[in-house]
Amino acid sequence: MTWIDAQVRARTLATSDIVLLDLAAVDGAEFPSYTAGSHIDVQLGPGMVRQYSLCGTPGPGRYRLAVLNVANSRGGSQAMHALAVGDRVRISAPRNHFPLVTTHRHVLIAGGIGITPLLAMLTELERAGAEYVLHYSARSRFHAAFLDELSANPRVSFHFDDQHIGLDVARDLGEPQAETAVYVCGPDGFMDYVLSKAEALGWPRRALHTERFGTDRTAPTGPEPTGFVVRVASTGTEYGVTEDQTVLDVLLDNGVDAPFSCQQGICGECVVRVLAGEPDHRDDVLTDAERADGMFTTCSSRAHSPVLEVDL
Ligand code: FES
Repeated sequence: MTWIDAQVRARTLATSDIVLLDLAAVDGAEFPSYTAGSHIDVQLGPGMVRQYSLCGTPGPGRYRLAVLNVANSRGGSQAMHALAVGDRVRISAPRNHFPLVTTHRHVLIAGGIGITPLLAMLTELERAGAEYVLHYSARSRFHAAFLDELSANPRVSFHFDDQHIGLDVARDLGEPQAETAVYVCGPDGFMDYVLSKAEALGWPRRALHTERFGTDRTAPTGPEPTGFVVRVASTGTEYGVTEDQTVLDVLLDNGVDAPFSCQQGICGECVVRVLAGEPDHRDDVLTDAERADGMFTTCSSRAHSPVLEVDL
């Protein structure tokens, strides 16, 4: 991955536990432009890379991140909150695994810090004159970022738990509608709740678009991992992958030049094609179509079959 040297140009608190950081290139160059829903990797130290959605106005120039200070996190959010104006970090170019799709109507559903990519989407939809609504759920007004800019927008509905006006998926999303895309972002529990309710209402999976990060992620669920063999197609060499190793760990330990970034199954940087064997997908980035097309994340996914051959 090519890293870009960036500098914190502005730092403000959006709430008591959400910091807004504006980044600009150290050398004064323009950052690559991006589309709504994009995220960047931020390198905070050796082995510490985190993903954050871009929540400013899509386009070149500065990047704006909103970061929740997560208690008991793995250190990324605290490191981001500790950044001061003038501090430097290295960032990746933007990637978008959560793009707006071409359709007639858009329903955005944000839980807490999940507002960040949806704010960029709202800006883009507003600019395009598209039909959309945003449901923004938070613990209270004091935990909701961007309240001032969103309050004046009649397309935005707020749901505050402390006022007992929480999100009701049956009421607020309702029955499936044609040519409607639903975008959901927030903590895992919030997303699981919204998605399960939406599917119970009859919304097809293809209409539901999600992205899972910016919060503490839980370990993937499923059966306990078991060992298997990964075969590198270019050399035919086979390596054992034990229960507590990832395919990526094993490849890197053996000097195989495998791409990677987040190592959490959310960025898509480590994706390779499976040529033989049955994958056990455990990532949060690949679509069903990409999985059916043989795509596989080495950092998080495993194998149901004894041998998995990858195109490396
Ligand atoms: S390294 Fe990010 S999905 Fe595997």
